[in-house]
Amino acid sequence: MTERSQTSTASAAGKVILCGEHAVVYGRPAIAAPVQQVRATARVTAGEPGSGCVLHALDLDRVIRLAQAPEDDPLALILRLTLAELGLPQEPDWEITLHSQIPMASGLGSGAAVSTALVRALFRHAGRRPDPATVSRLVFRVEELHHGTPSGIDNTVIAYERPVWFVRGQPPLIFTPARPFTLAIADSGIPSPTRETVGRVRRAWQAEPARYEALFDEIGEVVVAARQALEQGEIAELGRLFRRNQALLRELGVSSEPLERLVAAGEVAGALGAKLSGGGWGGNIIALVEPETTEAVRQALLQAGARQVIVTRYQPSADPQEPTANG
Ligand code: PMV
Repeated sequence: MTERSQTSTASAAGKVILCGEHAVVYGRPAIAAPVQQVRATARVTAGEPGSGCVLHALDLDRVIRLAQAPEDDPLALILRLTLAELGLPQEPDWEITLHSQIPMASGLGSGAAVSTALVRALFRHAGRRPDPATVSRLVFRVEELHHGTPSGIDNTVIAYERPVWFVRGQPPLIFTPARPFTLAIADSGIPSPTRETVGRVRRAWQAEPARYEALFDEIGEVVVAARQALEQGEIAELGRLFRRNQALLRELGVSSEPLERLVAAGEVAGALGAKLSGGGWGGNIIALVEPETTEAVRQALLQAGARQVIVTRYQPSADPQEPTANG
C-alpha cells in the first residue's frame, strides 16, 4: 500500500475500430487501434479516515460513495471488481477523481477507457501493476452492463493500448503495421448508444439469419484482407477495404445520412477510403489519409458537419505506450 499522502494517477487511451464492427459480435474478426490523443484519467489519494471509497466523476458532476452505490452503477462496479481483485481486507479510505476527454457514446471507447483508467490507478495506489489481460477481464464485466452482449473488443484494445486483431473468445493478437498510416477521425456529434445498434442488428439477424450471416462472412473476409494490407504496408488497398466495409455496414442498416455525408466528403477530398467506426447511426467515421491530403480531408469533414476531427498516426515501431506500462 502506498503512503497516506501519496497520489497515484493513471490514464487510458480512446480507441477506434478499423474494420469488422458488428460482425465481431458474431464471431468474425475485427481490427481496432488506440487513439492516444484522447484519454481518461483517474487519480487516487488518501481520503478521510472512515470515509471509504469516494469517487468524483468530474465530467458527470457525480459523487459516488461506494458503500451506498447501487449494484448496477458501472463506475461503482469497476471499483468493486478492482478492490476484490486486489484482495484488500476492507474498503480503503480512498478519494478518487475521474476525468475523461473522450466523447461519450461516440464509438471511441469512453466507457472502457474510464474503467481502464480506474483499474490502473487503483492497482497503482495499492503498489501493484495489473497485466493487460487482467485489466481487460475486469473492464469486460462493465462493458456487459453497458452493452448487453459486447464482443470484448473495446476492453481488449484499450487494456493493451496497441493495434489488435480480435476474435471473440480468443486471446487478442497484437500486431504492427508494416508502414505508418494516418486516420482522420470525425465526430458526427450524434450520440450512438451501442446497445441500440447492436440490438437492432440482432433483431434483423434473427429475422433473416442467412442474409446476415452472409454479410458477416463478407465483413470477415474484408478484415482478413485488411490485416494482410496492414502487415504488407499496402495502404491504398486498406483504403479500398474501408470502402468495401462501409458498403457492407450500410447493408447491415447501421449507417445513416449524416455518417454517409462525412464518408463522402472525406473521400471527395482525397481520403483513400472512409467508413463509420463503432456501433454506427451516429458517433465517428474514420478516413484513411496521406500526409498530403490530411489537411484538405480535415477541412472537408468539418465543412460536412463534423464536430471535431482528430488526426492520429500509427507507426510500425512499438509505440511508447507499451501494454506493460499500464498507463
Ligand atoms: O462501442 P462501439 O460503438 O465502438 O461499438 C463496438 C463495436 C460493436 O461491434 C458494434 C459492438 C461490439 O461489442 O463489438
